[in-house]
Amino acid sequence: MFEILEKRALNPTVVRMTVSAPRVARKAEPGQFIILRAGENSERIPLTIADYNRDQGTVTIIFQIVGAGTMELNTLNEGECLHDFVGPLGTPTHTEGLKKVCIVGGGVGCAIAYPVAKKLHEAGAVVHSVVGFRSKDLVILEDEFDSVSDELRMMTDDGSHGQKGLVTAALEELIQNGNQYDEVIAIGPLVMMKFVSQVTKKYGIKTIVSMNPIMIDGTGMCGGCRLTVGGETKFACVDGPDFDGHLVDFDEAMARSGMYRDFEAHAREAACNLFRKGEI
Ligand code: FES
Repeated sequence: MFEILEKRALNPTVVRMTVSAPRVARKAEPGQFIILRAGENSERIPLTIADYNRDQGTVTIIFQIVGAGTMELNTLNEGECLHDFVGPLGTPTHTEGLKKVCIVGGGVGCAIAYPVAKKLHEAGAVVHSVVGFRSKDLVILEDEFDSVSDELRMMTDDGSHGQKGLVTAALEELIQNGNQYDEVIAIGPLVMMKFVSQVTKKYGIKTIVSMNPIMIDGTGMCGGCRLTVGGETKFACVDGPDFDGHLVDFDEAMARSGMYRDFEAHAREAACNLFRKGEI
């Protein structure tokens, strides 16, 4: 059993939990994920590792409350335990040898981008971070990004915090100001990663994106998380989740995620109703 040591709401729908999981913490690296189950009969939920502390044996996850599984997870409080917490899974984000990097995070994707920025900062790299949210009330991890970034650009769609505009505009401005990045690492909604990759392709800057398709078993067996990258089929759970942004077929990934959206919405509604009635 995996005890929840700390739980905190980061905004109205995003929650951070720090979990006692010494064996996962010992091997965890930024970019990897875990699969958890709140209870014995609960849905399996894949979540990227947001932070870890090897000395304390803890792993931090950040999740958005979007359906019955995460609603159930959110009912657990400090001192209670998760039934399963399996990982670390997937391939760590490559950070070795990078001297100057721009991290671009969008929405709850910033939870995944932050440990990457932190690791690069601790390794002595120059880190510029561009983070984007719809509005001020949805901003997460601003202080954390500030503490590991040599330059931080905060963007909101409505201008209620930081600068009004898209992350792509801030990224392009930084590039045009003469910043020469070894790599841009973009983590957020598919459409954001697609347009970040288009910007960087123009300037010939290597770009890594973190893909987060539907995952079921997390072991490469079910095919749920397949993507086309450079004309080849890849599985995000074992080949990724990081891929070369200039090679990912984003249009196909967006079409597939759209295909699942209606099905998911129905399943989520049905599951939420059962959950509210206490039947699951
Ligand atoms: Fe099943 Fe990746 S989650 S193949």
